[in-house]
Amino acid sequence: MTTAELVHVYGPRGACLELFGRREGEVVISGPAGTGKSRACLEKLHGVALANPGMRGLIVRKTAASLTSSALVTWKRDVIPEAVEAKGVWFYGGSAEEPAQFRYDNGSVVSIGGMDRASKVLSTEFDMVYVQEATELSEEDWLTLTTRVRNGVVSFQQIIADCNPSHATHWLKQRCDRGSAVLLQSVHSDNPRLYDDSESLTRYGREYMLRLEALSGVLRERLLEGRWSSAAGVIWEGWDASQHLVDPFVIPVDWPRYWSVDWGFTNAFVCQMWAEDPDGRLFLYREFYKTQLTVDQHAALILRVVAPGGEWVEPKPRVVVADHDPEAQVVFRRETGLACVDARKDVAAGIQAVARRLVVAGDGKPRLFVMRGARVGKDTGLEERHLPTSTVEEIPGYVWDEKRPEQPVKDSDHGCDALRYVVMHREQTRGARLRWFDS
Ligand SMILES: Nc1ncnc2c1ncn2[C@@H]1O[C@H](COP(=O)(O)OP(=O)(O)OP(=O)(O)O)[C@@H](O)[C@H]1O
Ligand SMILES: [Mg+2]
Repeated sequence: MTTAELVHVYGPRGACLELFGRREGEVVISGPAGTGKSRACLEKLHGVALANPGMRGLIVRKTAASLTSSALVTWKRDVIPEAVEAKGVWFYGGSAEEPAQFRYDNGSVVSIGGMDRASKVLSTEFDMVYVQEATELSEEDWLTLTTRVRNGVVSFQQIIADCNPSHATHWLKQRCDRGSAVLLQSVHSDNPRLYDDSESLTRYGREYMLRLEALSGVLRERLLEGRWSSAAGVIWEGWDASQHLVDPFVIPVDWPRYWSVDWGFTNAFVCQMWAEDPDGRLFLYREFYKTQLTVDQHAALILRVVAPGGEWVEPKPRVVVADHDPEAQVVFRRETGLACVDARKDVAAGIQAVARRLVVAGDGKPRLFVMRGARVGKDTGLEERHLPTSTVEEIPGYVWDEKRPEQPVKDSDHGCDALRYVVMHREQTRGARLRWFDS
């Protein structure tokens, strides 16, 4: 009988290598896009699970859905395949009580989950937690995780996390600056897929870096240069994901709906769907954000969601506010039966109106929210180019144009345009109603 030997090959470098030696309670590896951060965290977790029978690990991200398309791909394709083939690791889909998990023949378990389903994920204690894209979490999420890291099977208990840099005053950066967490800075040459052993770019690396070189502004600083930077002249400084992003909830049917559309083909077409609560707060509950499709194709995708089989499953919008493009509006009306109203495009007024809504009012709430997971599907072409794939992703890079007073830089601003349109529309009509009552 012959036994095939299954060898797992992984050679970390730089900050990725340093991660393996770290034993502190909280270690964050930050860096530009594609430096090998996630791979390093997953390899460490897997190594610790193999070496410590009965250890409990967790792979967690803000939402479970986003984990499936990111870390779990690398985990299954690059980290555990040999162990799976040798039948040392297998997947268990979870139950009402237990999260989905990878089980090891030595009794170790690596669970997977999202902070959006925290109660299930956090029902047990862990030796090591890997947080993917940790800047998406609130500090409260992070602190909750720290209370679960105390299983005591491994000689050290640790949260490891990775992220691309965010704004300069992000809570995670501050946590590292204060010394509560260790910050490791990874660079592109840490990844052998991008740079070979003689530190020359590989063919893949050359193509990858070209896409990053094409970025501008704050995205360039963060994803190419790896800097924790705030864009100079951010327009909506009041935007704060921990205040304005909310978990999805069932929207009462009597909350009116408003759609806001910015047309595009090479640039993103954006169709935002908003619901307004009885106090006038707007909630973005769904968003189509896609390039390379014609208006009739967008209409078909939208109808598939709002009226599958021809039956509307949610209230029709009271109004569709849209960018001025008569031809596109005609097609949209023909395909969906919904007429569009021209958006009010006074840029400065629209920007101010949105900014006012972002302010937390006396009742402790702002007047504009975005539901997590609102975007339907993801435009992988935009993702590959590291461009925003949703309105929320646009906001940090929506900046004033230094050369044109009171105007934003016209660059990945399609969702922000649609945001202005819907807010202006609501300001206008609510304002008109108020004036009517006053007179
Ligand atoms: N040491 C290594 N040897 C071989 N391949 C590697 C190594 N490190 C990373 N890779 C591969 O490079 C690709 C990118 O790595 P990874 O996803 O870990 O990067 P990242 O820094 O997390 O990127 P992002 O910033 O986009 O999240 C993956 O396919 C990964 O398997
Ligand atoms: Mg990653």
